[in-house]
Amino acid sequence: MSNSRIRKAAVAAALTAAFSVAWGANLGSTLGRGATPDEIKAWNIDVRPDFQGLPAGQGTVAEGTKLWEAKCASCHGDFADSNSVFPPIVGAYQASKQDIATGRVAKLANVTEGGGTSIEKLSTLSTLFDYIHRAMPWNAPLSLSWNDTYSLVAYLLNLANVVPANFTLTRDNVQQVQNMLPNRNGMTWNHGMWPGKEMGNGGIPDTHNVECMKNCAPKPVVQTFIPEYAMNTWGNLADENRAWGPIQGQVTLSKDALKKAEESKSAAANDPNAKVVALIKANGCIACHSFGDNKLVGPGYQEIAKKYAGKTDMIGELTTRIMKGGSGVWGSMPMPPQSISEADAKMVANWVVDGAKQ
Ligand code: HEC
Ligand code: HEC
Repeated sequence: MSNSRIRKAAVAAALTAAFSVAWGANLGSTLGRGATPDEIKAWNIDVRPDFQGLPAGQGTVAEGTKLWEAKCASCHGDFADSNSVFPPIVGAYQASKQDIATGRVAKLANVTEGGGTSIEKLSTLSTLFDYIHRAMPWNAPLSLSWNDTYSLVAYLLNLANVVPANFTLTRDNVQQVQNMLPNRNGMTWNHGMWPGKEMGNGGIPDTHNVECMKNCAPKPVVQTFIPEYAMNTWGNLADENRAWGPIQGQVTLSKDALKKAEESKSAAANDPNAKVVALIKANGCIACHSFGDNKLVGPGYQEIAKKYAGKTDMIGELTTRIMKGGSGVWGSMPMPPQSISEADAKMVANWVVDGAKQ
């Protein structure tokens, strides 16, 4: 390196150092600004287990029933028993006197029964307030007033037989209701996630493995598999999973069923209706549309076909709506844009107008 190049390099290093110091010193004072009280207020909407953050308000079971039917039943079912897509919030659960007395839903202790609906597992009533107010209805989060939220929580508690039908839930009696929550003692603190002595187990991890530094055993391969005899217990898992995303269902058909499926596939190659049905499946449309006339998230294809039967002048418009999505024709739930080619979308539109035959 020549002398002058060494000098240049030294100057560059010195400049970099000086710049870093100046940059570092100013970083805090020149970037951004403090959040305003209004901004903090808008973000600070959590409701904590001791009900800190829950504004004063009240709601009745009767008012909650009306709100539920208008804003929640379409996804969670008329009695919070879920339709086939969305979570069952109450289901068939009826709080027993024993559950309310012990604060532990007896059925949950019996692991073979599995499952459990939201209200059965709930141990802090605050979560229901917080979640509903923050996130529901799914298609219009943060649109409920606090009084609406009180009413909806009262409605769900009544459905689960925790409070009577003439109950009014208020800021003053929420703690009393918490003390009656059937699974209030169902939360476990006894693991490493809660390091505090007074609450957790002192931070002892859930696993007891020791790190191996030398002469270690061969690296284990962690995998799950379905044994042969259980392959088809639940039908073809690949059909039950969404057709997009990194994790798709395994094909679990028996060899015979697989052969039959292949055969009908090749027969279908010449049947234009079967071609569209396959196209719809491949594009993931069945996550929201059934082929019948029952509604999932969107209307069933039979339902759509009835509306547009023979209306060939609608094919162009329907093609656009399939590609770009749409809203307001079938309810408040919008259909998001789909990544489907125009030719394929047009084929679906033709098929719909022609009766959505399978
Ligand atoms: C458009 C469909 C839709 C509507 C309408 C809707 N929900 Fe939901 N709800 C969902 C989905 C989807 C989830 C699951 C969300 C997740 O896991 O991220 C959910 C979850 C919930 C949960 C939590 C369940 C659990 O165990 O995690 C509650 C409680 C709930 N909804 C209450 C309501 C209430 C009350 C209303 C009416 C104000 C409502 N929902 C309206 C789709 C909907
Ligand atoms: C995330 C859910 C969702 C997916 C995925 C979805 N749709 Fe929809 N679709 C809807 C909803 C909701 C509506 C009702 C929209 C409205 O009310 O205007 C709808 C409406 C429709 C309609 C009727 C349009 C009208 O204006 O009457 C057709 C046809 C349709 N979808 C086809 C498809 C096809 C084909 C696919 C796959 C490429 C698809 N959808 C994927 C939710 C979905």
